[in-house]
Amino acid sequence: MKTIAVISRKGGAGKSTVSVNLAAALREAGQRALLADADPLRSSSEALRANSLAVVETSASKLFALATASSRSGGEVLVIDTPASPEADIVAAIKVADLCLVVTRPTYLDLAAALKTIDLLRQLRAPGLIVLNQCPSPRQGQESRVVAGTLDALRFAGIPVSPIALRVRQAYQAALSCGLGVTEWEPAGAAAAETRALADLVRGRLRGETSTLKPANDSLIPEPLILAQT
Ligand SMILES: Nc1ncnc2c1ncn2[C@@H]1O[C@H](COP(=O)(O)OP(=O)(O)OP(=O)(O)O)[C@@H](O)[C@H]1O
Ligand SMILES: [Mg+2]
Repeated sequence: MKTIAVISRKGGAGKSTVSVNLAAALREAGQRALLADADPLRSSSEALRANSLAVVETSASKLFALATASSRSGGEVLVIDTPASPEADIVAAIKVADLCLVVTRPTYLDLAAALKTIDLLRQLRAPGLIVLNQCPSPRQGQESRVVAGTLDALRFAGIPVSPIALRVRQAYQAALSCGLGVTEWEPAGAAAAETRALADLVRGRLRGETSTLKPANDSLIPEPLILAQT
């Protein structure tokens, strides 16, 4: 079984949104994926309250036991939604994870927080992938200045940036308000396409692949802007 920790020390970056949608997309792809809500605010459990089998409420101190139990019962992927703080809880999630997704919006303040999160990963020598969320869509094929600037600032982050970015889309909010991932809510929509592409990329990285790319509408960051790939 593989474990993915979705982390960010910045509130509102999109950890719960990415966790719920990634778990749903992995399930759609045939994986036995469990979502663990390790955030005391319980955003993902709350969002999925009508879908109670899909999420387990837990805490940082129970993550190791949960991962072990999930593996023994045939789980293939455990996705952990984490809180923005305290750091000890984030560290606990990083330690059980095979891959940490660092979610960040393309803003100056988010970036500062993301760089701190990335430092934490480096200190712990944990494998990470940066996922840009809530990105404005490109205009005439050009990334917005905020996205391009964020990618530039991440050039020396030392961990790769996902070439699949999630855009600002109303579907992410609408789906969660119905207790669904975007792939379930609007399977043919752009949000579903980019989420599936991100799920494919994550599965590839969990298998040790470093260049699993699958374009999804306008979500693929142009090749020259892909930085710090390892
Ligand atoms: N790609 C997106 N497009 C549109 N809205 C989004 C997107 N990602 C997240 N949101 C919205 O932004 C808000 C914050 O997202 P979310 O709760 O997932 O962040 P979080 O990092 O889990 O926050 P917290 O630190 O409070 O747990 C929510 O209202 C969510 O619906
Ligand atoms: Mg959250």
